[in-house]
Amino acid sequence: MNTRPESITIFDTSLRDGEQSPGCSMSASQKLRFAHALADLGVDVIEAGFPASSSADLDAVRAIARSVPRATIAALARCHAGDIEACARALDGARNPRIHVFISTSPLHREHKLGLDKAAVLERAVQGVELARRHADDVEFSAEDALRTEPDFLAEVCSAALAAGARTLNIPDTVGYTTPAEIRALFEYLRAHVHGAEHAVFSAHCHDDLGLAVANSLAAIEGGARQVECTINGIGERAGNAALEELVMALKVRRHYFNAQTRIDTRRLVPTSRLLSRITGMSVQRNKAIVGQNAFAHESGIHQHGMLRHRGTYEIMHPEDVGWAQSQIVLGRHSGRAALADRLQSMGFGVDEAQLNAVFAAFKTLAEKKREVFDADLEALLLDADARTPSGYRLLRLHVSTGVADDSLPTASVQLLAADGERISEAAVGDGPVHALFAALSRATGMVLDIEHYHVSSVTTGDDAQGQASVTARVAGREFTGSGTSPDILDASALAWLDIANRALRASLPIPTPAAKRAAITA
Ligand code: KIV
Ligand code: ZN
Repeated sequence: MNTRPESITIFDTSLRDGEQSPGCSMSASQKLRFAHALADLGVDVIEAGFPASSSADLDAVRAIARSVPRATIAALARCHAGDIEACARALDGARNPRIHVFISTSPLHREHKLGLDKAAVLERAVQGVELARRHADDVEFSAEDALRTEPDFLAEVCSAALAAGARTLNIPDTVGYTTPAEIRALFEYLRAHVHGAEHAVFSAHCHDDLGLAVANSLAAIEGGARQVECTINGIGERAGNAALEELVMALKVRRHYFNAQTRIDTRRLVPTSRLLSRITGMSVQRNKAIVGQNAFAHESGIHQHGMLRHRGTYEIMHPEDVGWAQSQIVLGRHSGRAALADRLQSMGFGVDEAQLNAVFAAFKTLAEKKREVFDADLEALLLDADARTPSGYRLLRLHVSTGVADDSLPTASVQLLAADGERISEAAVGDGPVHALFAALSRATGMVLDIEHYHVSSVTTGDDAQGQASVTARVAGREFTGSGTSPDILDASALAWLDIANRALRASLPIPTPAAKRAAITA
């Protein structure tokens, strides 16, 4: 007999667990834009940040809480009064706020991280949940490193957190250590041993250190989890978190097996994945399930032959079901403002008057240079409008000259507008045009970026396609990724370099200057 499918709550933590991973930092406006995209995707809970970690994070959570009404907005706190109060301040104004408190429970963490015994951990967990409940009805409790915690102690802490007022009990595999059979058994055990388990929503939060995050999350659902915590593209600490798109599509494609369903609009998976890649500058590998470029490409003759006879021979889901619609030619140079606004709206981008004006101006410039403007171009323009009006350095002018003769001297000159209104012009030579350009930017800003990765790709097809540059660099020991898009790849490269510089400035790092760097090398 068929029972009604179980509803699975999708809790997205791209803006918290994802954002805290190297190379994935986002500005406040990027976080807000992405939170809207998550709401459009149909995510039930958006974990917007960790407000106690910085005032910038608190402000970003607050902006999301106030302007994204459709989803529950969660904020993370340790079981510390200061953290919980920061969450309460950040979530003030949210229609459906959730405070998410956590404390480590495993023997290793108790001894080496917290220096607390079991009784003290239990007491702190209860105090944390009780304080959070004074600020919000919806409280989630997480037992960090749960999968390496003694099951009986884990059940005891969960029972106490539930009695103190938590609604959701999250069981994180913090270090990606577990296996499907093990985590399924643990969820079954907890549902049998936690007092009041029938009133709790059990949640899984799996990391991907052994490449098992999605398999483990699905096994947790089989064991009784009714919430899964995940991120778009699987971004997150170290090897990342469970990838939302894979989890959701596994539940959808194998719905009879799992007898479970989500509220996700799967046609928005690819656009949301692409948006995140553009914002963070971190692209997904070509063969990534669901959202990788090769996910639906059939190269071998045998496969193509089968596909022509029946799609089902080698296709378990349709590309259009996950948002791989053919990019359409949306607009051209005669299109007006209303058509652009309409198209952005149907792509899921809400823009205000000022943003629309900026994007329309950029669109007109692009349409003069490019015959056809695709959805992907519009996405890039929109994100670039954020990048071109940053809270830091802005690129005003750029000139690069280069050649291939033995005696050619690649030279770049740039003019920047600093945040205080000063115009700075600098020039430099280099081994090649990009080297010269980055050297000129370094002189103009007085900042040294240790470039680790530099990559240019095209946004769409065609010889007039825009170029997207992405750069990964270390600044004062921290890794940042920046991106820029333009019909001119040197312009795109300069924007990507400045994106990193501005991110590093926002992070208030002790940024090395070229002089300090030279002194360190000669010392
Ligand atoms: O991985 C983890 O344990 C976490 C918790 C804070 C939920 O991210
Ligand atoms: Zn985590």
